[in-house]
Amino acid sequence: MPRTKRHKYARVRQLPNVTFSVLGESRPPRSYPWYRDRYEGMRRVVELGCGKGEHSLAFAASDPKKLCVGIDSKSHRICVGAEKALDLGLENLQFLHTRIERIEAFFAAGTIHEIWLTFPDPHPKNREAKFRLTAPFFLDAYANLLKPGGTVYLKTDSCLFYDFTRKTVEQRGVRVLSPPKRVAGTDFDPPYTPGVVSAYEKAARSKGKGIRYMAFKLN
Ligand SMILES: C[S@@+](CC[C@H](N)C(=O)[O-])C[C@H]1O[C@@H](n2cnc3c(N)ncnc32)[C@H](O)[C@@H]1O
Repeated sequence: MPRTKRHKYARVRQLPNVTFSVLGESRPPRSYPWYRDRYEGMRRVVELGCGKGEHSLAFAASDPKKLCVGIDSKSHRICVGAEKALDLGLENLQFLHTRIERIEAFFAAGTIHEIWLTFPDPHPKNREAKFRLTAPFFLDAYANLLKPGGTVYLKTDSCLFYDFTRKTVEQRGVRVLSPPKRVAGTDFDPPYTPGVVSAYEKAARSKGKGIRYMAFKLN
């Protein structure tokens, strides 16, 4: 393993803005940092599969009334975003290291305003469809965690993931809010994430891939 990656695994453990899920531990969701009194009344925004947290950093920096939580299962990636948040003095950004499959252990029902899926892994094989972050198992969890009227936002470079999501969401009788869009190149100002381009997105754009957006409400 490269030394820089190994160092990140060690450093991220010391960061005050990163929570690690502990196997077998059972804690009430409201005991986690994002339910601290100081965050009371703030708009809770959760980014799933945040990677290095570029989107979460931008959301938190753009609005101090938002409390953002970036979630990923790769702690060396979280390390990058969490260190930047500390450097920038962003007290409204927290990170959680866990599998998204376990999200309901960390959040109380009806307490999230926005869920963001930023370039989720498409899992292209049919037999892997259940791992896609908009498979029915995940949508059930999001519906439970979102506040009434809360929104799920998707940003993806995968037509397969986009079409799968559209179908899965519409099968639930849910209306997709934004019209389907395919945006080529870099001249488009995204409707929901102005100016935010993660390293993953940059690489996708440089390969000429279009970026698609979707928003929907589950309850
Ligand atoms: C393609 S990357 C996108 C990263 C980032 N959102 C961006 O825009 O650059 C997908 C990320 O999702 C994370 N991820 C995928 N499935 C996950 C799961 N089930 N639980 C937690 N993290 C997951 C991966 O570790 C990876 O960092």
